[in-house]
Amino acid sequence: MSTPVKKVPIHLQSSQNRLVIRHGKIVNEDGITEDDIYIEDGFIKQIGRNLIIPGGTRTIDARGKYILPGGIDPHTHFEFEFMGSKSVDDFYQGTKAALAGGTTMIIDFAFPKPGESILDCFYNYRQTADDKVCCDYSLHMCLPHWSEQVKREMEILCKDHGINSFKMFMAYNFMLNDAELYSAFEQCQKLGAVAQVHAENGSIIAKNVERLLAKGIVGPEGHELSRPEEVESEAVNRACVIAKQVDCPLYVVHVMSKQAAEVISLARKNNIQVYGEALVAGLSKDGSHCTHNSFQYSAGHILSPPLRSDPSTPLALLNFLAQDVLQVVGSDNCTFNSKQKELGKDNFSKIPNGVNGVEDRMSVVWEKGVHAGVIDPTRFVAITSTNAAKIFNLYPRKGYIGIGSDADIVIWNPTATRIISAKTHHQAVDFNIFEGLECHGVPEYVIVNGRVVVDEGQLKAVQGFGRFIETAVFPPFVYDPAKVEDLKPQRNGNVDEIQDIREIEKIISE
Ligand code: URP
Ligand code: ZN
Ligand code: ZN
Ligand code: ZN
Repeated sequence: MSTPVKKVPIHLQSSQNRLVIRHGKIVNEDGITEDDIYIEDGFIKQIGRNLIIPGGTRTIDARGKYILPGGIDPHTHFEFEFMGSKSVDDFYQGTKAALAGGTTMIIDFAFPKPGESILDCFYNYRQTADDKVCCDYSLHMCLPHWSEQVKREMEILCKDHGINSFKMFMAYNFMLNDAELYSAFEQCQKLGAVAQVHAENGSIIAKNVERLLAKGIVGPEGHELSRPEEVESEAVNRACVIAKQVDCPLYVVHVMSKQAAEVISLARKNNIQVYGEALVAGLSKDGSHCTHNSFQYSAGHILSPPLRSDPSTPLALLNFLAQDVLQVVGSDNCTFNSKQKELGKDNFSKIPNGVNGVEDRMSVVWEKGVHAGVIDPTRFVAITSTNAAKIFNLYPRKGYIGIGSDADIVIWNPTATRIISAKTHHQAVDFNIFEGLECHGVPEYVIVNGRVVVDEGQLKAVQGFGRFIETAVFPPFVYDPAKVEDLKPQRNGNVDEIQDIREIEKIISE
């Protein structure tokens, strides 16, 4: 076991550290204002009109554009060893692609290798990711088995290493049974962490796979047949029931069906504290893409839970987001090349599960949500950034444009368009499930920690510029919602007089 984790200096830039953005519409989840923003040393120092700005400061004119908090993608799997393959987007290419699309922070899932402790898994992920990430990142820890050691190490991860969320699986060969889920949720609650579940009934799926293969259904079309909606919604309901017993806040990752979202809706009405995450794939695609006669095309769309054959699902999921039944949109970016997908050529259950989305999440949600008139820009900000920041205790440092917040900002041109293609995307994967989709809404400038990394559309990401962001336990949004209003930063004014904690951090880290 080795611990040394490199400290990335907070600001790799020195002189080019001042920036003013003028004339844009600042969109936060709670409203839109027309103000200028002054950024210095990586964070937002002033917001308002007629700001007094030091000479030599670079100005970006954002007239006619929206200024959004940088996207937070709470669900990625970079260089993840899974189903006999390793996902091809690594922490460098994955975070670079994220920035290209307007996402300035990701939360990846640390997944222990066989026999590896969750503590060692954490150290190894840090070792792998710290030097590669182009944007800030945090980690969720996966619990592929349950034991007293896991329970002990969860506490260490929370207390000493900035982990505040744990993912448990109800499917795959590393799923936990109900008693284990109960214990894991109980420990999360005790520690002030957020329990996350992959909610599908793994035992039913295993039996269905056997039955379908015996009938000669071996192609990708067998995937959804083996895990229909009720297999997802049953598990969501069970997870809610278990979480309620121990009063543990629950975050259901990748909600992919109407039935599952309806279970969450009911649970929320019954005051069960559950949050739901949709995927950008699920908001724009249905299961018809998995029954195509090209294996490569269909296999390219295989993820779990699956895209649903009910064609009304994508719009329904968007409406659930609009109504706050679901709160967050992730990508679940877990990319496998066509060659890797071929592992399942003769058996759909062996197709490595996962699709792209980290680069296109913001554009596709804008297109299907805002451009289509289902949600407004403030709700767009809530579901692509602010709510994830609140749930995982990054708010208001992230997910909000306010004084003192990190300068993670996207200048969004709602009138520009781009067409998504694997030929032009920045990801390592050779396929893009959104191929050919024209998106209105383009990130023209992306600013991460005060540095302009997409400059008039040109990507200038810097390997290793991102930092690991520790997430503290007991996120107020989850554990003490009444306190969240108090956290909201000033929207106007000047931060000069405010002692900035990050200045102190900077001195300590140097
Ligand atoms: O198919 C998926 N979702 N692949 C990634 C692993 C997971 O379950 O999130
Ligand atoms: Zn002005
Ligand atoms: Zn999952
Ligand atoms: Zn996932």
